[in-house]
Amino acid sequence: MARFVLDEFGENETIRRQIARGRGQEEPYEHAAFEQANTISLDVTNMFDGPEPTSLHRKDLEEIIPSALEANTMLERGEGDIRDHDIPMTGWLNLPEEITASHLKEIASATRELSGEIDAFVSLGIGGSYLGIEATFRALTHSFFNQLPREQRGGAPEIYFLGQNMDPDFYRDTFDMLEGKRVAINVISKSGTTTETAIAFRILQQALESRLGEQARRCILVTTDREKGALKKVAREKGYRTFVIPDNVGGRFSVLTDVGLVGLAMANIDLGEFTAGFRRMRRLTRSNDFWRNPSLVHAALRYAAWLKGKKIEVVATNATSLYPVARWMEQLFPESEGHKGQGLWVSPSLYSEKLHANGQMVQQGERNIIETFLLLREHDNRLPIPRQRDDMDGLNFLPDNGMDMNDINRKVVEGPAYAHYQGGVPNMTFEIPRRNSYNLGQFYYLMERSVAVSGFLLGHNPFVQPGVESYKTAMFALIGKRGFEDKAKRMKEKLQKMERTVIHASENPRNSDPK
Ligand code: PA5
Repeated sequence: MARFVLDEFGENETIRRQIARGRGQEEPYEHAAFEQANTISLDVTNMFDGPEPTSLHRKDLEEIIPSALEANTMLERGEGDIRDHDIPMTGWLNLPEEITASHLKEIASATRELSGEIDAFVSLGIGGSYLGIEATFRALTHSFFNQLPREQRGGAPEIYFLGQNMDPDFYRDTFDMLEGKRVAINVISKSGTTTETAIAFRILQQALESRLGEQARRCILVTTDREKGALKKVAREKGYRTFVIPDNVGGRFSVLTDVGLVGLAMANIDLGEFTAGFRRMRRLTRSNDFWRNPSLVHAALRYAAWLKGKKIEVVATNATSLYPVARWMEQLFPESEGHKGQGLWVSPSLYSEKLHANGQMVQQGERNIIETFLLLREHDNRLPIPRQRDDMDGLNFLPDNGMDMNDINRKVVEGPAYAHYQGGVPNMTFEIPRRNSYNLGQFYYLMERSVAVSGFLLGHNPFVQPGVESYKTAMFALIGKRGFEDKAKRMKEKLQKMERTVIHASENPRNSDPK
């Protein structure tokens, strides 16, 4: 069989950039030309005046503008319902300005030192202690990062994530990938008590300690509360290196804290550039000039749509690299908005793939959907479409018209944006110029600000997640955790009172009777 050779495709730009980052070659992110070239835009044309009765009109938005401006002012002043256990949870607001270059340097040098001694790095965490790191890592690196030779990873170790589920098969498979390698872990948990993360930590800690004994300390990092919590205690006792999750920053707003920075530094992601993106968007989103502040426009439009009966927001991207960013949004928004019977369900989608699946529902299903596109303008690689002499598939018109894959992939957003709008789905498009940490920093801050404003508009605190806490305690009770005995008893009683209906797919009629 013939072997596939890459000669005709040239160098992979993602790998080239990974190598450059590994050599410490930064993008010139402090230059005006760089800022200009990396400006995110938001096109909201298709949000208005659609063809069906629940469509939005500009006047619907205009009615909300005063409340959005008030929310922005309150946010800046630290007013309103923003506390969790008495702590105002808006530490993320000014973090882009407050974070110091020396702190970034310290993280970069700690990870560089460790990176040289390991083959693989495993980040343990869930929710806000996981999604932002994974999203940023995947957005900026090669799709098959761990399979590349180290040199093409820019010298970075392989990077894995655990703690985000309790699936023993997935764990076992991950361990197969780690076998025989020099491994370091970073356990990330603000509370220090999240079951999934704690179990992941226990298993890996045990594995490392049984191999390395005392030396295991060198390859165990702990990212948790500055003072309190079970993890902090373990770290103190065992002498693990710790990183801090500030009190006043909630998990889903924490990607610019040590939660995100340690793992990203391990992948050689430029923390200075990442922070600069956050800083720029902070400057822009402080403004009370509504139409020049994308976070206000975004928040107000989503709220207006919700008032009109829209219940689902499909967040669709044309870039595999940005799909995890849509997944990050799937946490940020619902966890902050889904209170008191309110909020939009966020459905992350990768197009074209999903256009051949729930795309049918978006076009013609119940008209309770809005759509937000994350359009990547310039992929790292453009990939030409070859001309063929016989043109049997009739596709020569593409190269003849000068179109490559990057151009076609833009239409994967523009086509649905048009068709879905005509079908009654209001939509807006964020255009993200390139895959770099600056643009991600900008985008994250924009979204964080938008969801905070959204909380104010909905009239509840977006910085708490009592619903998530409910599942956590139910799980503690079910697994028999000490201190949750009463809860376990109450649950058992309630469960016993419920008449169970279970149908068994079995030939034995006794098993298949509903009970
Ligand atoms: O946004 C949040 O606060 C949550 O999603 C948390 O990040 C998540 O529940 C994990 O919590 P912890 O970091 O305490 O383990």
